[in-house]
Amino acid sequence: MPAPAFGNGRRAPVEKFAPTPSQVEELKLCARDPIYFANKYCKIKHPHRGTLLLKTYPFQDKCLRSFQKHRFNIVLKSRQLGLSTISAAYSVWLALFRRDKNILVIATKLSTAKNFIIKVAKILDNLPPWMRICDYDKNQQEVRFENGSQIKAVPTTEDAGRSEALSLLIIDEAAFVRNFEEIWAALFPTLSEGGGAIVLSTPNGVGGQYYDLWAGSETNGLGDDAVGDNGFHPIRLPWDVHPEHDQDYFEATSKKLGPRKTAQELLCDFLSSGETFLKAATVSWLNKEQRPPISREGPEGAVWVWREPEKNHKYLIGADVARGDANDNSTFVVIDMTVGDVVAEYQGKIYPDGMAEVLDLYGRRYNTALVAVEANTYGNHTLIDLKKLGYPNIFYRTAPAHSVEKHYAGPKDKAGFDTQTASRMEALVRFEDSMRCHVVTPRSSRYYEEVQSFVWLDEKPQAKKNKRDDLIMATAIACWVYRTYFENYRLSCKANGAHSSTEKPLFAYMSRTSTLFSGYGRPPAAMTSDYQRARQAHAEAQEKAKRLQQAAQDDDQLKWLLS
Ligand SMILES: Nc1ncnc2c1ncn2[C@@H]1O[C@H](COP(=O)(O)OP(=O)(O)OP(=O)(O)O)[C@@H](O)[C@H]1O
Ligand SMILES: [Mg+2]
Repeated sequence: MPAPAFGNGRRAPVEKFAPTPSQVEELKLCARDPIYFANKYCKIKHPHRGTLLLKTYPFQDKCLRSFQKHRFNIVLKSRQLGLSTISAAYSVWLALFRRDKNILVIATKLSTAKNFIIKVAKILDNLPPWMRICDYDKNQQEVRFENGSQIKAVPTTEDAGRSEALSLLIIDEAAFVRNFEEIWAALFPTLSEGGGAIVLSTPNGVGGQYYDLWAGSETNGLGDDAVGDNGFHPIRLPWDVHPEHDQDYFEATSKKLGPRKTAQELLCDFLSSGETFLKAATVSWLNKEQRPPISREGPEGAVWVWREPEKNHKYLIGADVARGDANDNSTFVVIDMTVGDVVAEYQGKIYPDGMAEVLDLYGRRYNTALVAVEANTYGNHTLIDLKKLGYPNIFYRTAPAHSVEKHYAGPKDKAGFDTQTASRMEALVRFEDSMRCHVVTPRSSRYYEEVQSFVWLDEKPQAKKNKRDDLIMATAIACWVYRTYFENYRLSCKANGAHSSTEKPLFAYMSRTSTLFSGYGRPPAAMTSDYQRARQAHAEAQEKAKRLQQAAQDDDQLKWLLS
């Protein structure tokens, strides 16, 4: 039986005749310059205007020039700028005027892959016969040329194109391609013979392979033709590069899209385009609050210090302990409870017993800070060692509020913060509102990096694939302890005049004259009811603390009598 014919059996009618001298000149011009070729001979299908000649916009010319000049290009784009169209035109140019070019397009789904080939076919089928210098055949996903070139478009699958050596790889809507990490890892070696790549996408939050490629391509203003550390040439195309997009277009479109989609589809804004657990405004505040540490010390210089301990200030340490030799890091954060700043932080690989020593050291240094350790398997080892070291201020989850810092542990008392699904969420809720309301101010770039890729995934706040959240968890535990037991502490410092004038008041966000909300006119209504609830909780907590203090004194007397 004869092998089935490639394509749909419809071969392009190629007239084999010698081009005239002027046609030869024209072919030479086209072969040299994809912009000339596109503008003079490429036809596209416009949704309202029908079939028309592709008259490229200046930003499209810049892209075509970059595709030709740079081996690796990454485009961060807003929607509907004609990037698929010019990538199709560029692919046709490369395949037709060069021999043996193997071009692979990866798209998010089959229909998008087929659409790419439709654009390619539209251009090819509308070329004047003398311009089709070689025969070609096509099906819905592939065009093969007589000169050995081919253009193939496939939907995303893990082993897409794994075995073929590629001349050009185009990844469309890369930030939305499933398993892009794996696909990139499999395809990158196929470009080793000198192949290039064009990676196109609108943003989809911080983190992930596309984000990492973009971040690695940033050239810090070194000029239009600069290439980033990872060899990629970055091209950023927000909505207003398009000459037909004016302010009215932006306003009408963004009204329809809403803020998150506007960030994604029009503004090329990574931060606001993803489902980060912390809201974009909080993340951007954290960005501004970053400071270089005054010292890097301890194991491998991984303890960063922003402020030395101050007399009469109270400190709290939240810690998350990992195995020490695996991927996860052990972490701790030291919060100055008197002012709410993170004053020191650790992130590194250390065994649980070593972690106990580091916590003992820094706990004592920071005025015998209250140490709250996540009591998972490794954390329990750390807690046992911390007790052996005689550390005097360990957090016990069974401790009543008034005695949390001077709790006499009984045999049934459990040290540390127990992370179950519910308590993890509780800690994260306290973490979120501590950050949003600027109650706790972190300074660290390591922490900021985690925050950007800490997202809602499968209805659960967690780190994106290959990203970490260990500093976030240490901070969340500290925030939970701080807000649960010491919410009123800073208020009482203030009432007693123990507050320096540079400190942020705990409930600054609730004040109508607060500088945190200058520019917003007035605080959102939700804040006002937060304020009322907090006031009420404060009064109740004070009342309860008084009663419990009395009871504790009785207990202490009893202990003394019985000993
Ligand atoms: N230079 C141009 N002149 C007129 N129309 C154009 C031009 N370039 C592209 N178009 C048209 O603009 C529309 C969008 O093009 P295309 O799909 O290539 O954009 P895109 O940036 O890939 O969009 P998306 O963000 O949806 O992937 C198409 O209808 C295309 O025909
Ligand atoms: Mg497209």
